[in-house]
Amino acid sequence: MTTDIPTLPEDTGRETRVLVCTNGSAGSGKSTTAAALAYAAAKKKKRVCVIGLDKQRDISRLLGYDDPDGDEDLPTMYDVVDKICSLAEAVVPAKDTKTKEVIPNLWVVLESKRLDELEFKLAAETARELWLHRLIGELRGRFDLVIFDCPGDVKLATIGAIIASDEVVGCTKSQEKEARGLTELEDKIADVARSYGHTGMPTGIDWVVISEGVDHKSQGKVYKDMEDQLREAYGDIVLETVGDDVKVPEAYTAGRPVTLYAPDCRAAKSFTKIGRQMKLYR
Ligand SMILES: Nc1ncnc2c1ncn2[C@@H]1O[C@H](COP(=O)(O)OP(=O)(O)O)[C@@H](O)[C@H]1O
Ligand SMILES: [Mg+2]
Repeated sequence: MTTDIPTLPEDTGRETRVLVCTNGSAGSGKSTTAAALAYAAAKKKKRVCVIGLDKQRDISRLLGYDDPDGDEDLPTMYDVVDKICSLAEAVVPAKDTKTKEVIPNLWVVLESKRLDELEFKLAAETARELWLHRLIGELRGRFDLVIFDCPGDVKLATIGAIIASDEVVGCTKSQEKEARGLTELEDKIADVARSYGHTGMPTGIDWVVISEGVDHKSQGKVYKDMEDQLREAYGDIVLETVGDDVKVPEAYTAGRPVTLYAPDCRAAKSFTKIGRQMKLYR
């Protein structure tokens, strides 16, 4: 029996890896990847915190909170932006949507519909691109792993997360639109690094995760070609491909990370391997 204390873990001075799952394109597998890797690492006894930045609130739902705005007592990232609470104060334990139980070793900063006001809220701040960089220190030393889950654009939330991170995980599908999103992401990172490189921010994409999510089997060949192109372009930072697996949308509907929902399915095994390839755990 694990009797994990669900309050914010203490600062033990441990080394914290901060990752950002991103792509300028929506539907590229960011939330699926963030949830799957976070749960896989927590299962391996790593202390993990996922920070949701998307007003669509998918990662909040996958980690046990269907409607963070519906409960006044629940802190969200919006409250942090609004300076109602600190980032550390906004950390809550992740839950298994099915059992309602706390998931050991896994925490989350929840999202709010109001995150669409983010740009406006931060408009008057000096060097507002650094907004998350200023906050992330509150979590370093407490977790082994922090993962940002971004919205499907490269605006202030995503840029802030990239600057605050150690490693960029480019999430893509093996389809033209999402693959193009990676190139745009690279250009944007280079652009931001010209102004904020001194922070020690990532200077490019560190890892590429391809989720297929093929809808029509007949188009499989096209996707294979795109996957080959991605591997050629990005070389060995491209991790194990997550093939099309119906368990992924099933897990989504169930509001659970696929690595929790069906740990033995193909997609869950691929994600578990991806975590190992990234050396998040052994
Ligand atoms: N390997 C996969 N097999 C089947 N469906 C997938 C796979 N990966 C992702 N999907 C589906 O693609 C959709 C978009 O994924 P999501 O993680 O929400 O992307 P994003 O967060 O980038 O918007 C979801 O409906 C998800 O279930
Ligand atoms: Mg998402």
